[in-house]
Amino acid sequence: MTQDELKNEVAKAALKYVVPETIIGVGTGSTANFFIDQLATIKDSIRGAVASSIETANRLKSHGIHVFDLNEVSEISVYIDGTDESNHDLNLIKGGGGALTREKIVATTSKQFVCIADDSKLVDILGKFPLPIEVIPMASNYVKREVVKSIGGNPILREEFTTDNGNLILDIHDLNIDSPKALESQLNNIVGVVTNGLFACRSADILLLASQEGVDIIEP
Ligand code: 5RP
Repeated sequence: MTQDELKNEVAKAALKYVVPETIIGVGTGSTANFFIDQLATIKDSIRGAVASSIETANRLKSHGIHVFDLNEVSEISVYIDGTDESNHDLNLIKGGGGALTREKIVATTSKQFVCIADDSKLVDILGKFPLPIEVIPMASNYVKREVVKSIGGNPILREEFTTDNGNLILDIHDLNIDSPKALESQLNNIVGVVTNGLFACRSADILLLASQEGVDIIEP
């Protein structure tokens, strides 16, 4: 199977976690797109979805799935999204697509977080994938300097990219993340950082991982 076929398989497997008659949260990226296309086949079983990006909202709407604003909703049964990396505790690096802030908000608001990925995403130590942080534009150089001074790594401004929230992304290269929760909090404490792509304080509850052998269910 190709990587896209693996993504489609895991997207299909995630349909089992969709809770009928509820509002679900939907992530962003190519794996999430496969999930949205699968979700369209059972769209009448849910009330609708909260989207983690404008791109996802548009794709959901194109399938006739009702998109709720998060402020209209008191409960999200399950959040389904891809990842850039996951360790075995289901701590994640997300934000390759730049949607990390809205993804983290919807994930945190949801009762269950089901992460879907192909097996290239499972790692022993997080950090080979550059860690994205969303920053307020006027603070980007300050945040860069603070990261180098207090954390290390090599923060690089993502060229010609603005988030759905009107902010910039710094991608921190060359990290070896052995304490994801601590690093997540430390980065959030730098003034000018909106959020960072570590999902350790709110990690995934279940990882569905597609390989040539099938889809494994991984729990921490
Ligand atoms: C977007 C994300 C995505 O979940 C992550 O980048 C994985 O994307 P893909 O499924 O295309 O590999 O965090 O901000």
